[in-house]
Amino acid sequence: MKKILITGGAGFIGSHVVRLFVNKYPNYQVYNLDKLTYAGNLANLTDVEQKSNYHFIKADITDGPLLLELFEKHDFDSVIHLAAESHVDRSIANPMEFIMANIVGTVNLLNAVRHQWKNDFEGKRFYHISTDEVYGSLGHTGFFTEQTAYDPHSPYSASKASSDHLVRAYHDTYNLPVVISNCSNNYGPNQFPEKLIPLIINNIRNSKPLPVYGKGLNVRDWLYVVDHARAIDVIFHKGADGETYNIGGHNEWKNIDIVRLVCQIMDEKLDRKDGTSEQLITYVKDRAGHDLRYAIDASKLQRELNWTPSLQFEEGIRKTIDWYLENQTWLDEVTSGNYLKYYEQQYQKR
Ligand code: NAD
Ligand code: DAU
Repeated sequence: MKKILITGGAGFIGSHVVRLFVNKYPNYQVYNLDKLTYAGNLANLTDVEQKSNYHFIKADITDGPLLLELFEKHDFDSVIHLAAESHVDRSIANPMEFIMANIVGTVNLLNAVRHQWKNDFEGKRFYHISTDEVYGSLGHTGFFTEQTAYDPHSPYSASKASSDHLVRAYHDTYNLPVVISNCSNNYGPNQFPEKLIPLIINNIRNSKPLPVYGKGLNVRDWLYVVDHARAIDVIFHKGADGETYNIGGHNEWKNIDIVRLVCQIMDEKLDRKDGTSEQLITYVKDRAGHDLRYAIDASKLQRELNWTPSLQFEEGIRKTIDWYLENQTWLDEVTSGNYLKYYEQQYQKR
């Protein structure tokens, strides 16, 4: 019997992690703590919300005293920490929210865990979910390994790098049983349509311009979100204390090639003439400090914990497009209201 606190469980990746743990481990009690920012959506979890081992707590991790109370009340024995502000463009427009949620929020959780667990670490684990963006940018060759020096370039990646350092510092200073993973770009169902792939799908659906930053030549390494959740399950249960594991899809794509692929599949699915969606491609001003290339060497995770991605990209992207087309109400709901304002501000000046 475990009592696991999953933070950010109403977001994109968090909802897949919650689903996996609630269904696969009926004897665990899973507590999803989420502030429900614009990116948090309980509609992502309607299929598990009635299960007796699932619980929801609406709370903000920047509220340290509240976290102390919650730990005292529930006595969680493990934490999987995903809650964060996650979108690079928003961090460029408004860095302070990222400092608060990603750095202060993480330290508040570490303090709550320390206070509650004292020095009794038997059966305890603090698992911090991080990103490959902390490593900075690669040139045209090479891969990020767990030894790559940190070199973040955006307020988002700098805030995640800072939180990683603090998690390691609590391990080294207070012996807290921590583990960290750094993952590449995720795609799949339930991703908020501010991120490249769902934004393109949504704009094609509405015949709106497809904004490609710069020349579209930046490269990302894409992983299906369910495979990330599987990796988190393996690392949570079998990863060694104090260790870091890189997670990636070994699946590099230039942005423009991804956009073209999504255009082709959408033309086919929407019964539009071949080439219709590609006409919507619009090159816009580049992102400030835009990292050229990310690519993960995930061989440690494969070698030590026997994890590999299960889905090929062609299959994953088709499943993803099908999900968005079958869940157009979800898309309509999350793209109304405040998102419209964000979209206008973000893209009007480009
Ligand atoms: P997301 O933006 O979809 O979800 C973030 C969730 O955190 C939301 O539910 C939001 O309500 C919640 N949250 C934000 N601030 C909070 C606060 N102050 N208190 C409580 N809850 C708060 O993000 P995501 O893409 O699912 O990313 C989840 C985690 O994985 C993040 O830590 C991110 O850095 C990391 N990550 C993401 C990717 C990716 O490609 N999306 C890749 C690697 C790592
Ligand atoms: O690498 C992991 C990271 O991946 C995560 O830590 C972040 O939380 C997640 O948001 C993602 O960051 P990116 O900045 O790589 O993702 P995004 O979807 O915003 O952009 C992917 C690429 O597409 C990037 O090179 C910028 C480009 N892009 C993005 C948008 C939103 C465009 O060309 N046009 C766009 O409109």
